[in-house]
Amino acid sequence: MNCFSFLFWKKGSSSATQSSEVDIDFSDIENVIRYSYKELKVATGEFSPANKIGEGGFGSVYKGKLRNDTLAAIKVLSAESRQGVKEFLTEIKVISSIEHENLVKLYGCCVEGNHRILVYEYLENNSLAQTLLGGGHNSIQFSWDVRRNICIGVARGLVFLHDVVQPHIIHRDIKASNILLDKSLQPKISDFGLAKLIPANLTHISTLVAGTAGYLAPEYAIRSQVTRKSDVYSFGVLLLEIVSGKCNTNRRLPLGERYLLVKAWYLYESGEMESLVDIFLDEEVNVEEAIRFCKIGLLCTQDSLQLRPSMSTVLDMLLGETDVNEEKMAKPGLIFDITEGRERGKQKGKAEVENASSSLVDSGRQGDSSLSGIADSFATMTFTSIYDRSN
Ligand SMILES: Nc1ncnc2c1ncn2[C@@H]1O[C@H](COP(=O)(O)OP(=O)(O)OP(=O)(O)O)[C@@H](O)[C@H]1O
Ligand SMILES: [Mg+2]
Repeated sequence: MNCFSFLFWKKGSSSATQSSEVDIDFSDIENVIRYSYKELKVATGEFSPANKIGEGGFGSVYKGKLRNDTLAAIKVLSAESRQGVKEFLTEIKVISSIEHENLVKLYGCCVEGNHRILVYEYLENNSLAQTLLGGGHNSIQFSWDVRRNICIGVARGLVFLHDVVQPHIIHRDIKASNILLDKSLQPKISDFGLAKLIPANLTHISTLVAGTAGYLAPEYAIRSQVTRKSDVYSFGVLLLEIVSGKCNTNRRLPLGERYLLVKAWYLYESGEMESLVDIFLDEEVNVEEAIRFCKIGLLCTQDSLQLRPSMSTVLDMLLGETDVNEEKMAKPGLIFDITEGRERGKQKGKAEVENASSSLVDSGRQGDSSLSGIADSFATMTFTSIYDRSN
């Protein structure tokens, strides 16, 4: 048995910290590289702001150069994990043992004192949120071929997590900022399994506060019901974003234009789905295929879980190997942030859930005037009530 003594800092009930020494059996977590804090400090120039490449709900991400000259993305988790070191490492072991061309590779971690740091492969072309949807300058040409390849790659990564890995992994936070692009624009899903490393309540809070409610499946937000189908929902939203080149929510637009899902459903119903396709794509776009992708996006975001296809069916539909069955397709389910929609004396920090309400879709035609009518048909709940029921 390969048994190491592991020194870590345990937070006491007072503000002072104390050290404890525990024996941890590392024999079954051989494939995880354990980095020392000192090593990562050197790799990132003492976590210098100049090396900071992003900040998310889980903490800050730094670009770093490891001792063997490998570039890495070093994620410093801000929340102190309530898990013990052993549980933390066990989860890391699961994640690090998973390898797929469409998943970001986790090299290893650092667990020292209160520090919880994850070390990932570095992806050169940033995330879809910053490039395709970022609105700023970037040199990447998102042609239809590139977009199709990204959609299919992400679907492949999810099929792997959902159907190949045993026990399966639900990502829980599929969104544009978690889709990274390598130097040849191959997509890689990041942060899979991360939700399990962080207390679930914090994950929920960061997701909602970060304004990513647009990706949340209604049943996940209302009942904390997490299944593979909640990932399918988020993937559907992402698919519509990739084809349209637009974020799922644009607060600067009037209500009728604000939600991509609402717009997509309206265009679908009126037989104008083509108008959703990004205008920057011009002639080179395969319109028929782009429309098919939009319809798949609508299927994935159905309010009823049963109507959402599995990721493997989604992949087959994207590849054109299975027909897109529109027979039972209904209005998509949608959750949105109350603070965006109206200022009617409601508390900040509340979320509203729209249960495929026809009034919201009608607002797509009528603009802001129907807003008050829509609001009354929503179930309203606080962030607190959402995260308290998280598992
Ligand atoms: N492996 C990586 N390679 C290159 N850049 C990365 C990598 N991981 C993260 N980043 C950059 O850091 C940013 C922040 O990532 P992070 O995962 O912390 O936050 P997020 O995805 O924006 O939000 P959330 O914490 O809710 O997932 C990303 O948007 C991306 O630009
Ligand atoms: Mg992320």
